[in-house]
Amino acid sequence: MVNGGITNDGRCLRTCRARPSMTVHTSRTLPRASALPHERIIQRHKMKTTHSIRAARPDDAARIAVLGAHVWVHTYAAAGVSEVIAQYVTAKFTPENILALLNDPGIVLLVAEANANLAGYIVMRFGSHHADVPTEIETLYIQDSFAGCGIGSALLTHARGVAMARTGNRAVWLIVNSQNEKAISFYRARGMTQDGIAYFELGGIKHENKVMVARD
Ligand SMILES: CC(C)(COP(=O)(O)OP(=O)(O)OC[C@H]1O[C@@H](n2cnc3c(N)ncnc32)[C@H](O)[C@@H]1OP(=O)(O)O)[C@@H](O)C(=O)NCCC(=O)NCCS
Repeated sequence: MVNGGITNDGRCLRTCRARPSMTVHTSRTLPRASALPHERIIQRHKMKTTHSIRAARPDDAARIAVLGAHVWVHTYAAAGVSEVIAQYVTAKFTPENILALLNDPGIVLLVAEANANLAGYIVMRFGSHHADVPTEIETLYIQDSFAGCGIGSALLTHARGVAMARTGNRAVWLIVNSQNEKAISFYRARGMTQDGIAYFELGGIKHENKVMVARD
């Protein structure tokens, strides 16, 4: 196993680690009925979870669409699901749209599986320039129950390897909502720096995003 847990044949095998500072319940040992709310919130997978990374296939399309919708709502709809959000999510995260990505020669879509189930995915878009950087990470979504298991890091590392193979350059760029502090600190900890501001408009409201770049 080399390069951050990625095997020579392109798979990535890592072990999910429980976060030591948290009270941890396994997914098989649910908190007792009288558990305090905060104890439920910090449930994590304690049991060892091995994940693998591979290129997405057409038969993954439905699962990717469902996972994408789930992660989007979990991340951005903290105030509840408005009609605007419902329309956006149901139009964007469809198996047809995922299949269109898979048929686009400028796209690479990788999935991470744990116990044969989908736990996360990453979408790379080539030829989508920010300044001198030709590769965009368009989406990186991990199901919350797998957060902190190293899957996001592994997908990002793997994607940068794909970028290197395809463009001769590991550099990538992306945009991330400026209020998504968890993702911003995740990207900063992995060497990405802010390189501008972009806006995402939804329902007539502009949401500020940070443009982040890794050039090394
Ligand atoms: C941000 C995201 C991609 C990170 O993926 P991940 O698989 O949890 O990341 P990893 O396990 O590889 O690394 C977790 C890191 O995130 C940080 N982190 C912050 N809050 C965390 C939490 N609640 N649980 C776990 N990790 C957390 C830690 O710094 C940790 O770094 P460390 O391993 O150096 O301690 C993932 O949480 C996600 O998909 N979030 C929702 C969608 C999103 O915001 N995507 C990015 C939009 S551009």
